[in-house]
Order: sequence, then C-alpha cells, then structure tokens
Amino acid sequence: MTDVQSLHRFLQSRRSIRRFKADPVPESVVERILETATFSPSAHNLQPWRFALIQTSSAKEKLGAALTNKMRADMGSEGAPQTDIDKRVSISLRRIDEAPVTILLCRDATAVRREEPGETTMGIQSVAIAGLQLLLAAHAEGLGGNWICWPLYAQEATRAALDLPKTWLPEAMILLGYADEEPKEKTIRPLDQITIQR
Ligand SMILES: Cc1cc2nc3c(=O)[nH]c(=O)nc-3n(C[C@H](O)[C@H](O)[C@H](O)COP(=O)(O)O)c2cc1C
Repeated sequence: MTDVQSLHRFLQSRRSIRRFKADPVPESVVERILETATFSPSAHNLQPWRFALIQTSSAKEKLGAALTNKMRADMGSEGAPQTDIDKRVSISLRRIDEAPVTILLCRDATAVRREEPGETTMGIQSVAIAGLQLLLAAHAEGLGGNWICWPLYAQEATRAALDLPKTWLPEAMILLGYADEEPKEKTIRPLDQITIQR
C-alpha cells in the first residue's frame, strides 16, 4: 500500500467512540492533539477556536450540571416522561464522568471581521473544521473520540458554570480516551448518489 493509500485508509477509519477505558491520557498527547487542531484552516485566518480543558472533578460536575439542567428543562417542556429524562441525564453525566479527557470546543465571538450572519457562519465552520482536525489528531494518537453537541443548547449556562471569558461560545464538547468498544458498522452513502457533475 502506498503512503497516500494508507493515509486515506487512516482518515476513513476514524469513528465515534463513546466508551473509554479508565487509562489516563498523557498531558503531552493532549497538547499535541490541540496543537495540531490549531493548524486548521479558518475564515480570514482568524483562528476563532478556543479550548477549555475540563480536568478537575469540580469542573466536570459544573459542566455536567449546566448541560443536564438544560436537558431536563428541554425534555420536560417537550412532555417527555420523567423516567426518560432521568435516564438520559444519568447517561450524560456518566459519559462526562468516565471520559479521561473532556474538551469544550468554543468559538470566540469577537474573532470575526464584521458583525454579519455570513461572518458568524464562517466562524462556526472554522471551529467545526478544527474539531475534526482534533478528532483526527486524536485518532493518530490511538485515541477514540466523540463530538457531542449538547453545549450548543446550553451555551450561556456552560460558559457561566465554567467561568469562561464572556466572548467564548461553547459550540461542542469532545470526549477522548482509549477505546473500550468496537463501533458498529456504518453505511457510507455512495459517491454517485451525493455528487453531481456539470
Ligand atoms: C455536529 C455533530 C454533532 C454530534 N453530536 C453528537 C452527540 O451529541 N452525541 C453523540 O453521541 N454523537 C454525536 N455526534 C457523532 C455522530 O453521531 C457520528 O459522527 C455519526 O453517527 C457518524 O459516526 P462516526 O463518527 O463513527 O463516523 C455528532 C457529530 C457531529 C458532526
């Protein structure tokens, strides 16, 4: 296999991992992953990504509470049964608790050229690309990872709970660790169904 083929195979083999071994991830590995994420492309090269590493159990608790309070409120207002709400909350708290590395992926709202919707979208797109680069760098380090959208639904509560700078908007949470599960097979949409040529 050529180097290019093995690189494609590597990129195609990244999967979301949701169960982790308890083994800690060395700090130097986390630093390399974050550093590689910072090499991502960004609109106007404004590099709007910001990372909050959630390391202490107190910070994990605050994060878990901010996210699941909102989860409770949203599910409650949708009329979900209390048992479903409790189950979802306890799974979410367990996932945060078990993850050896928790990274809150934020966007600096001031890292835009102008205040206009297109610029904001480009900032969000730039942070998302950095998130993918982070996941791929973690994969290169032999770690599994999962992108989690919950902070998006509780941006202000999450920012306040962790006392993040006022301009940092949490966009996602990325959990990393050594995989303790085999991901299920996934079907990839064939290229000829999702591509048109003109
Ligand atoms: C924007 C975005 C939001 C996601 N949110 C969640 C989430 O909240 N919880 C979760 O378990 N996975 C989440 N995922 C992971 C997807 O479920 C996963 O990428 C998808 O099922 C494809 O599987 P794969 O990553 O193994 O290829 C999210 C992925 C993206 C890109």
